[in-house]
Amino acid sequence: MSKTPFYITTPIYYPSDKLHIGHTYCTVAADTMARYKRLQGYDVMFLTGTDEHGQKIEDKAREAGMTPKAFVDAIVEGPRGVKDLWKLMNISNDRFIRTTDDYHVRSIQRVFKAMYDKGDIYKGTYTGKYCKPCESFWTESQLKDGKCPDCGREVQDAQEEAYFFRLSKYAGPIQDLLENTDFLEPRSRVNEMVNNFIKPGLEDLCVSRTSFTWGVPVDFDPGHVVYVWVDALFNYATALGFLNDHYHDYEKFWPCDVHFVGKEIVRFHSIIWPAFCMSLGLPLPKKVYGHGWLLLDGGKMSKSRGNVVDPYVLAELFGVDALRFFLLRTFPFGSDGSFSNEALINTINVDLANDLGNLVSRTTAMVEKYFGGTLPRERRSDPALDEPLETLCRGLRDRYEAQMERYQFQNALEEVFQVIQRANKYIDENAPWALAREMTRNAPRLGTVLYNLLEATRICAVLLTPFMPQSMDKLFAQIGAGADQRTWESAGTWEGLDQAATVTKGENLFPRVDLEKALEALAAAAPAKAEGPQVEVEPLAAEHVDFDTFCRSDFRAVKVKACEAVKKSDKLLRFTLDDGTGTDRQILSGIHKWYEPEALVGKTLVAIVNLPPRKMMGLESQGMLLSAVHTLDGEEVLNLIMVDDAIPAGAKLC
Ligand code: MSP
Repeated sequence: MSKTPFYITTPIYYPSDKLHIGHTYCTVAADTMARYKRLQGYDVMFLTGTDEHGQKIEDKAREAGMTPKAFVDAIVEGPRGVKDLWKLMNISNDRFIRTTDDYHVRSIQRVFKAMYDKGDIYKGTYTGKYCKPCESFWTESQLKDGKCPDCGREVQDAQEEAYFFRLSKYAGPIQDLLENTDFLEPRSRVNEMVNNFIKPGLEDLCVSRTSFTWGVPVDFDPGHVVYVWVDALFNYATALGFLNDHYHDYEKFWPCDVHFVGKEIVRFHSIIWPAFCMSLGLPLPKKVYGHGWLLLDGGKMSKSRGNVVDPYVLAELFGVDALRFFLLRTFPFGSDGSFSNEALINTINVDLANDLGNLVSRTTAMVEKYFGGTLPRERRSDPALDEPLETLCRGLRDRYEAQMERYQFQNALEEVFQVIQRANKYIDENAPWALAREMTRNAPRLGTVLYNLLEATRICAVLLTPFMPQSMDKLFAQIGAGADQRTWESAGTWEGLDQAATVTKGENLFPRVDLEKALEALAAAAPAKAEGPQVEVEPLAAEHVDFDTFCRSDFRAVKVKACEAVKKSDKLLRFTLDDGTGTDRQILSGIHKWYEPEALVGKTLVAIVNLPPRKMMGLESQGMLLSAVHTLDGEEVLNLIMVDDAIPAGAKLC
């Protein structure tokens, strides 16, 4: 009987910098899902890859004095690059696509032409900003303080010929798809998309550029390159052979079962991508799952904030499986989570070393000590003591499956750990050491207790295999579980293990981590600050401001009551603030690049409150929040000024 296909993808990553733990999070989640589906018997296609075109890569390559292709090759294929990282993390992708692969480039040209022929792509005029000396086109959002980001000079309004995709035409069907199907999950992301992007009106999308060359050329109009998101999104289909002869699995695996994507790219996957599919008549992907972010110190992890966490360092110190497990055990997949080294070490010690590790080492040690490593076949049950554990184990696979089918990795693991904790309690309830004191009379009972423990461990280990494949292989060897006893079917069966099970005590699978020593090792592994002026600050102002003018500025401590992203803006956050007056103050601030709105609620910030009100995106801003700004490796870094929460709202700063 042929197996049912299951197609799962991760986003394809920008190889502009080394990948960090946030990227690893999504890939580990997708890998776990792919392994789970294989365990269930599906014919899985698991795709990941890299998104290698666009202005950002072109600029970075220029800075590095390399061609764009040599630059991305080094990050994708080079030592400790993207492919190495996935190998280290034991990622079982079936395919890896690079958008610079020839077959993909040709497919994208065909995609673009097909949408053009259909009338969904048309030529128009793109309005932007132009820097004459640099001969560069910029969008409003690329400008730095309203000036050219390259040379800092004034820019002027200008127009550029460009191709547009008729996104507006698909607004109705997309809204219907989002609101009336389970296409996008979690559900909260649906409201965000509909209210922020569809209801305010979907505009046609500019899908070609002439201001840079590092992209897929539009073959029927030289000078234009295809917009990087058209190029990127279609990877999911070209990697199966859509509009190319390189692969031949499109019929088998399309439509995709699930695209895992981070929340900031949900818009591209749930609005633009289905519109492209509709345009070309591709069946729509079955699901887009928008996962949350790993945050650090309340903000986004980014090289420019200087706070990226290196998965290599963590995997080398704590082990690949411990890291994989931590990522999915600790954070609910659909929401943001705060990463910390302490949380990682704590999870290893509590769940892996203490609960699971102890269960395995105590049980195998007792089978060796009392029975020389092989259990006797004689049994003596004690229903009052045995049934609670057995019942919990019998239903475990179904409870786990229900959670996994909803991508609730954390809950699925919780189900497994409830059984592990119950099994540890079962050891204490049965006190095998006491039974062993009268071996002649108690051997059948002791054998039964130890068998039940091995069996509970086996079932848990099968279900933990997608999360920690290497460690579970070792665990199976220790408890004597053969190939038939590691299957999905066997996880739904009690008494799957041989009655005369033979254990082999092996290495300690999850050694306890000494918190202090580990934190020291992490500090030592932190990259040494490179020599030279990586950090730049603005020169001090030469001009004096007179004292009275300065004193007229009214700076106040304000508390964030609410904070949200402004519709249709990539940059602006809208703050509702308590400024001590009893009336809420609204301030808009262009800091979304550095902060997640939810992470700021409750913080005490500093605002200047007597600036004249200003309208931005149709909303009034009543003042300005103070931040510290510097440049790191050429990228702007912004930190909001946060003060002690003990300072009351409205306190005057002088
Ligand atoms: N190239 C695009 C995706 C194109 S898909 C057709 C892209 N690349 S990315 O490298 O910037 O990001 C890839 C993924 O990593 C995104 O889903 C993003 O959400 C995820 N993450 C990056 N930082 C993250 C965290 N700190 N936490 C969790 N995931 C985050 O976007």
